[in-house]
Amino acid sequence: MSRRGLSAFAGRVSFKAAQCQEWKKPLVLVNKCISPLKEDEVRVQTKACGLHYATYLATRGEYQVKRDPPFVPGSEFSGDILEVGREVSGLSVGDVVAGLAKTDALQEILTLPSSMLEIGSLIKISSSPIDDENYSKLASLVVNYGTAWMGWTRKGLIKEGDTVLVTGASGGVGLAAVELASKIFKCKVIGMCREEKSEQVRNFGADHIIDYRSESIRQEIKSIAPSGVDIVFDVVGGDGAIDLVKSLAFEGRFITIGYTAGIPKIPANILLLKSATVSGLWAGTATTPPGVFKETANIITNLFLDGKINPLVQEAIPLERVNDGFEKMGAREVTGKLVIRM
Ligand SMILES: NC(=O)c1ccc[n+]([C@@H]2O[C@H](COP(=O)([O-])OP(=O)(O)OC[C@H]3O[C@@H](n4cnc5c(N)ncnc54)[C@H](OP(=O)(O)O)[C@@H]3O)[C@@H](O)[C@H]2O)c1
Repeated sequence: MSRRGLSAFAGRVSFKAAQCQEWKKPLVLVNKCISPLKEDEVRVQTKACGLHYATYLATRGEYQVKRDPPFVPGSEFSGDILEVGREVSGLSVGDVVAGLAKTDALQEILTLPSSMLEIGSLIKISSSPIDDENYSKLASLVVNYGTAWMGWTRKGLIKEGDTVLVTGASGGVGLAAVELASKIFKCKVIGMCREEKSEQVRNFGADHIIDYRSESIRQEIKSIAPSGVDIVFDVVGGDGAIDLVKSLAFEGRFITIGYTAGIPKIPANILLLKSATVSGLWAGTATTPPGVFKETANIITNLFLDGKINPLVQEAIPLERVNDGFEKMGAREVTGKLVIRM
């Protein structure tokens, strides 16, 4: 074991973690022991952990990569470096970092391999203190905006002036997709969401809103984009996706990202008639070609630090009330992102 610097947790031997003891049951706060730090590890005092739909599904045993209880869920985090192993370079005690852990982020202390720096799942943000609310925003950044960025650039081949449509536009990934398409790529943006959540989606750059409960989605799209939409960014799926494929422009691109309403069956004949393309995207560190995640994480972090994007954190909830966050997600009461604060 090797250590550099003094831990703010010095003297403490344990920390709190929100543990899933049984699928579909409330998480339980448990105490965990601080383990010795290895030479190639860093220790982070977690400040915020973003709640993702995948995190919610994992606690229910419904995510595609299943994990048996007991486990601590959570992946996207921000925090301060408490300790640095002897072999680690590029980070010092007190640095502010953000990252994407494989799991366990819903806890006060995270011990991580420094190899995360190389793949971009751990990023140094600052060597001096930051505004407290920025910890929440940093824990809401890379998954949502990184997924949207890779979708638009690698799959959608987005260009200025395109007409694009985003489903689930009030959610975490959807709102990020709207903001990037509007502010960075200068596109005409149609957001699909419930009317009652539409104000924020407009604020993030949607030119038009279509309520997905409408019975005339195809006509509404046609009146906005008579030649069809160039790109559909779909986080919702379900049967509604078929109408969206039919609403593509000639050589349009349909990007399938998520299935909050179920897995759609896309009609191949419509793709042929439109010379259209369907692309899937799984925007993880291990599910993208080498270097892509790191490059994307750097781009997104810089856009945020330069003030060009600004994730919406609906609420920062203390760790003690972590189950309130999951209940709100289950009840679809979220616009943007919920963050758990330690
Ligand atoms: N492929 C990837 O790499 C990747 C990365 C991140 C996330 N995802 C996936 O993307 C999806 C969205 O994630 P998120 O974090 O943005 O979730 P989120 O914040 O909970 O947003 C989900 C959105 O879906 C909408 N929605 C839910 N059920 C719907 C339905 N039956 N019909 C229409 N809209 C519905 C919600 O809007 P209302 O509540 O207003 O209806 C909300 O806007 C999830 O499936 C997630 O697993 C994939």
